[in-house]
Amino acid sequence: MAELNLDKIYSSFLLAIEDTDTLDKLIDIQKEFLGKNSVISEERKNIASLNDHDKKKYGQKIKEITENIVNDIESHKLKLVKAKYKNREEKEFTDITIDWFENTGTKEHIISSVMEEVVQIFSSIGYTVAHGPEAETSWHNFDALNTPIWHPARYESDTLYLDKKLDNLLRTQTSTVQVRHMQEKKPPIYIVSPGRVYRSDQLDSTHSPVFHQIEGLAVDDAISFTDLKGTLEFFVKEFFGKDIKTKFIPHFFPFTEPSAEVLVSWKDNNWLEILGCGMVDPNVFEKVGFKKGTQGFAFGVGVERLAMLRHNIDHIKNFYDNDLRFLRQF
Ligand code: DAH
Repeated sequence: MAELNLDKIYSSFLLAIEDTDTLDKLIDIQKEFLGKNSVISEERKNIASLNDHDKKKYGQKIKEITENIVNDIESHKLKLVKAKYKNREEKEFTDITIDWFENTGTKEHIISSVMEEVVQIFSSIGYTVAHGPEAETSWHNFDALNTPIWHPARYESDTLYLDKKLDNLLRTQTSTVQVRHMQEKKPPIYIVSPGRVYRSDQLDSTHSPVFHQIEGLAVDDAISFTDLKGTLEFFVKEFFGKDIKTKFIPHFFPFTEPSAEVLVSWKDNNWLEILGCGMVDPNVFEKVGFKKGTQGFAFGVGVERLAMLRHNIDHIKNFYDNDLRFLRQF
């Protein structure tokens, strides 16, 4: 009989903690079942009146039930503490995980969209896109491009090298892709190559140690400087508008001969330089194993420069700050 009583007490304890949702309530229950004047301690008092056999048996049962209650209270306490922190966490922290597949309200970065636009213009006249690595060999970046060993662009103050022997570097120009492409393919070649380039430059309003270029290369039978002029004039008018005027002035690049810079007429009647170009130097063709007499032209344009001119952007760092107020304008 007495044991039945203990079972009942334990059942009513289980029922009581089941709905307990605060630590205070749990402490009250603990007192009610295990405290000084608790039901269990009342039961313990009854032991005295039992015979030796029942005393032992009943005492054992009380011990068991007490242990169960203590354990149950502990695990319920843990559950409540966890729930409390989880609750607080949910209230205090907003979920900042980005849903990569959500594309409403997103748009391309201005640098990507200018690159895309330039590529589109050239692909409309038959050019395809080629890519090359950003970590390059000095051979692809300089030697194959006919750049003499003493050329200042090779100085460690200008170029970011990847090893002490200066054999590997972060490419300083996308012209490297010309070389890689010609090593693999035969003429006719019509490619543009957009990508990131690196220089050991301090950040100022028009220079950044990382920026973007688009390289172009055309190699075909009897390609001449006239083709180069016509192609680049077409590009400039497509990009900046039909009224824009262009001017070609002589320049020097190790990998082209003759070389030129293209200037565009700007609002305030200034001529602004937008790209470098020229007829591919025969030494470059020789380096990639093309036969004597091969003809072609090449050009390289700075993407940031194009975007800055078109949108009147006064500092290059705007492109990399990722300030949404800036980026949303384009
Ligand atoms: N690579 C040159 C630079 O970074 C740009 C350039 C000029 C590319 C003339 C060419 C070229 O292909 O023919 O300044």
